[in-house]
Amino acid sequence: MTDQIDRFDKTPSLMPLRRDLLRRLAHAADEAGSPLRLTSFASVSPDGTPQVRTLVLRHFDPETMTLRFYTDARSPKVADLETHPEVQVLMWDPDHKEQIRITGTAELHIGDELADQLWSTVPEYGRGDYLTRLPPGSPLNDPEEHGQDETFGGRNFTVICVKVSCIDWLKLSAQGHRRAQLRWVGDEVAGEWRTP
Ligand SMILES: Cc1cc2nc3c(=O)[nH]c(=O)nc-3n(C[C@H](O)[C@H](O)[C@H](O)COP(=O)(O)O)c2cc1C
Repeated sequence: MTDQIDRFDKTPSLMPLRRDLLRRLAHAADEAGSPLRLTSFASVSPDGTPQVRTLVLRHFDPETMTLRFYTDARSPKVADLETHPEVQVLMWDPDHKEQIRITGTAELHIGDELADQLWSTVPEYGRGDYLTRLPPGSPLNDPEEHGQDETFGGRNFTVICVKVSCIDWLKLSAQGHRRAQLRWVGDEVAGEWRTP
């Protein structure tokens, strides 16, 4: 599937887990009902405060091990990522009883080729999220006060690409919980079982 070098010599039993996780992540963005699609995305604000919020997973590329999210360039999370690109993305799959905790580094795309290309795929009904007159999080006197400014176009549309460096996987089971950690460094991937 990839030209990555597997370093699972001591733990070959982890190879099927890696295959399964990457396959499910790749499908998650396309499946409206996938529990992996709605993620808890954690960043660190410029003053060092943890910040977590729900973000929709838009794409996962197993070749480059990159997750993709969309947001508004004016939202506080973008300032977080400009200062601290390190992020964690948390997923919970109730069907498999699995927690997937992904650590990575975020790269922002605003007004560049990737952002322009993906903006053209955002349906009309989804564009309003990036057209609010005031920046997301601005105080309002009235909840109806926020309007849209169509002249913004795709100017605020931001693509967050997260390069995955680690997946911490935990499966709950009455037969005994299982936990493993997979790590990507350059082209190499390694893993080990961990105490749950
Ligand atoms: C189900 C759900 C999905 C959401 N998806 C996104 C999303 O894909 N992108 C986004 O920027 N905000 C999304 N939000 C809103 C964020 O959780 C958050 O409130 C907003 O982005 C402001 O975050 P910030 O102040 O930390 O920058 C979603 C909220 C919910 C409840």
